[in-house]
Amino acid sequence: MKIAIIGAGAMGGSFAEGLLKGSIFNPSDITIANPHKDKLQRFSNLGANTTTNNIEAIKDADIIAIVVKPWLVEQVINEIKDSIDYNHQIIINMAAAIKADTLFSWLDKNGQKPVLFQVIPNIAIAQKASMTFIVPCGASHKQTSIVKEVFDDLGKSLITDETHLGAGTTLASCGIAYAMRYVRAASEGGVELGFKADIAKEIVLQTLKGAVELLQTTGMHPETAIDQVTTPGGLTIKGLNTMEKNGFSNAVIEGLKAGLK
Ligand SMILES: NC(=O)c1ccc[n+]([C@@H]2O[C@H](COP(=O)([O-])OP(=O)(O)OC[C@H]3O[C@@H](n4cnc5c(N)ncnc54)[C@H](OP(=O)(O)O)[C@@H]3O)[C@@H](O)[C@H]2O)c1
Repeated sequence: MKIAIIGAGAMGGSFAEGLLKGSIFNPSDITIANPHKDKLQRFSNLGANTTTNNIEAIKDADIIAIVVKPWLVEQVINEIKDSIDYNHQIIINMAAAIKADTLFSWLDKNGQKPVLFQVIPNIAIAQKASMTFIVPCGASHKQTSIVKEVFDDLGKSLITDETHLGAGTTLASCGIAYAMRYVRAASEGGVELGFKADIAKEIVLQTLKGAVELLQTTGMHPETAIDQVTTPGGLTIKGLNTMEKNGFSNAVIEGLKAGLK
């Protein structure tokens, strides 16, 4: 199986990086296209094919992933449309907030439409640790399981519908930035408490890793886990209640909702 990635920016580059670490594609089965050559060098060093020509990139690809900014998607589709074989090639759109109906209207070739997947990963895909949402549009079960297998190899994936894609994007794709902000805030707190910045960051990261592993291994609700570490009248509950008094949960929920507007 061969894949072409159009756009080697933050997301396209992370996707390529993950694929090159993954077990589904050989490096020689991955082609990455980008207008500026400088972004491509690191991928050709790892054995992938690279090009500045989008039409050349999609030749022989079983999967074509469009990973350019949303306002450039129509232009890219117009450029490559006539070179896509709708009977054999699957299209993945990673650009956020473009409806499948709009994509199909751009992709229409005299009434012929391709198999399309709307896919939203997050940048942890580079480390094979993405949370990826997949919306199949006109795909068979077999095609859906092929695409799911690709993204399961790069973290976790969830097949969903278009109405949940925005919420998924906010929770996991923007969400990674929200998680980073927690790491920054906790690390800065750690410095005020007396640790050097890099040590404070390592402590916060290991603590978060521990929290995630605890919840994933036990299936516990976070509040149940919190009950296990809060001694009545103790310091942890005082810390938590002070965070809540300053709007912690509310800030997170309102931030997530703002990311959906
Ligand atoms: N970043 C995320 O966390 C994230 C998460 C989910 C979805 N997405 C989606 O992914 C898409 C890309 O976002 P990004 O953050 O990766 O943006 P980005 O860093 O700006 O990358 C876009 C890339 O597309 C290239 N490009 C521009 N015109 C092109 C063309 N005609 N043909 C081929 N490549 C072209 C750009 O090349 P030059 O810069 O060299 O001109 C750039 O390398 C967006 O639509 C976004 O909604 C991003």
